This record gives sequence, C-alpha cells and structure tokens, in this order.
Amino acid sequence: MLLKRLLFFGGKGGVGKSTLSCATALRLSEKGKTLLLSVDPAHSLTGILGQSIGPKLKKLEENFHAIELSAENLVEEYAKRVLTALGELLPSFSQGLLEYASYLKHSPTALDTAVLDKLVDFCQEYQYVVVDSAPTGQMLRLFETSHAVSAWVEHLRKLAKERNKVERFMGRQDRILSLIESRKEKLKTLESILKEKTVIFAIANEEPLSLQEMEAIRERLKAFRVYPVINRWKTLNFQGIKVQEVEKPYGVERLKKLNLEDLLKLLEN
Ligand SMILES: Nc1ncnc2c1ncn2[C@@H]1O[C@H](COP(=O)(O)OP(=O)(O)OP(=O)(O)O)[C@@H](O)[C@H]1O
Ligand SMILES: [Mg+2]
Repeated sequence: MLLKRLLFFGGKGGVGKSTLSCATALRLSEKGKTLLLSVDPAHSLTGILGQSIGPKLKKLEENFHAIELSAENLVEEYAKRVLTALGELLPSFSQGLLEYASYLKHSPTALDTAVLDKLVDFCQEYQYVVVDSAPTGQMLRLFETSHAVSAWVEHLRKLAKERNKVERFMGRQDRILSLIESRKEKLKTLESILKEKTVIFAIANEEPLSLQEMEAIRERLKAFRVYPVINRWKTLNFQGIKVQEVEKPYGVERLKKLNLEDLLKLLEN
C-alpha cells in the first residue's frame, strides 16, 4: 500500500476544516502523491481552491488530485452489486431487493460504509489522503461505523459459510460468501489504516463553543490519534498547534501562505 498518512479534519461548523484540509493537502503534495477528498455533502473545495472540483478525480498539480464524492451514488452502485448477487440466490426476491437498494442511499450507515469502502481504495493509490468532512457529527459517525460494520460483516460471514456448505453439497455456485469475504478483507485493511496511519485534527477557534466541541471529539475518539488545533489563533493561551489568520485564504497561492509548520511536523513521526 502506498499510503503514508490518512488525515481527517473535524470540528464545529465554520472553524476552518475545509480551508485547512486544502492548505495541508497542497503542502503534502510537495512531498508525495496526494488526494484531497471531500465527503461533506455540502462540498466547498471548488470555492476554496478556486477551481471546479466534482465527483471525478481532478488533477490540479503534478502530485495533487481532488475529488468531491457523491456518497449517494456510491451507495447505489455498491448496493446494486451486493443485492444482485443476493437476487441470484433468491430469484423471487430480486425485484424487491433492487427497490431496497434505491432506498438505501438515504441510510446514514450505508452512506458512511460506502465512503469508507472508497477510502480504502484510494489509500492503495496515494501517499497522502486528506479528508474534508462535514461538521463533527458526520466525522464521528464515520469512525464509529467502521467498528459496527466489522462486527456485522463477521456475523454475515458465519451465516454465509453455513449456507455455502449446503450450496456446495447441492452442486451450486454461491457468490455471496466470496463477496462477504472480500468485504471482510477490506475492513481489516481499513482497521489497520485507522490504527497505524490515521491522524485526526480537531479544529477550534478561540470561540468557547468550538473549543467545547474540540474536547468532545478528543473524548469520543480516544482510540485514535487526535491533535487539537486552534485556527485563526490570536491570543489564547494554548499549548497545541496554532494556525494564524491570513487574509482571504482562497486559491492555491494564498492557501500556501498559511503557516502549517507545527501541523506538518506532527505528521512526520
Ligand atoms: N486561518 C484562516 N485565516 C483567515 N480566514 C480563515 C482561516 N481559516 C478559515 N478561514 C475562513 O473561515 C471561513 C470558514 O472556513 P471553512 O469553510 O474552511 O470552515 P469549515 O469548518 O470547513 O466550515 P463548514 O463546517 O461549513 O464546512 C471561511 O470564510 C474561510 O476563508
Ligand atoms: Mg467545510
């Protein structure tokens, strides 16, 4: 796997998650192949970078790609694949299953699972992956989903294994078990990425509510490497990473003016 670091930026609305994601990804692209990925349904990379970004990978510089994922499309694709295989086993259910696939795109867990699935694919292809997420809730859910899904897939695998014995005895092919097993492999990869290569920056401003939310993220994600960051720092007495205000941090040139040395240093060890 190419991946050296997977980075997340979390925090209250408006604290600078997207701005810092863009600026950090730009700096990392000087060191290695970098992907900037937005999973916030209200994407904002286009505005911040001043270049149009969409659901297809866009090359902005030699080592710098960006994409705004449509989680709904991912869910539909994935659900169709799985449920078509299921429909082959249970032909009389097949129409109902496809209808179910179209409802799934409104399920938060399905959306998170599809995003995580895609994330693992990207981690095979980039040295640095930087994720711009929606305000706190979505990011926490993304991490918690990874545990819940692992347990659920293991349960499914046991069921499928039993079934597979019967199918083989009857001389029939069963695609479900191999689908579930490849899913399990992927989740295992995700778990090791989250444990060994992931860094979460919990962003706040000097504003008290954003500081409270930063603490809440640290508390909930204790099992991961979480670093607090004060963005637009002015006077607050604070030991951790500080990023100062710059004028109009939009567009590649101005984003490069943000002083991110403290933050980048932490990524080295
Ligand atoms: N270091 C900084 N100096 C000056 N302005 C900044 C800085 N960081 C962020 N801003 C400004 O603050 C505003 C909010 O930033 P941004 O959109 O990055 O926040 P966000 O946390 O991603 O918001 P949302 O929760 O809506 O996604 C923007 O106008 C941005 O230009
Ligand atoms: Mg944002």
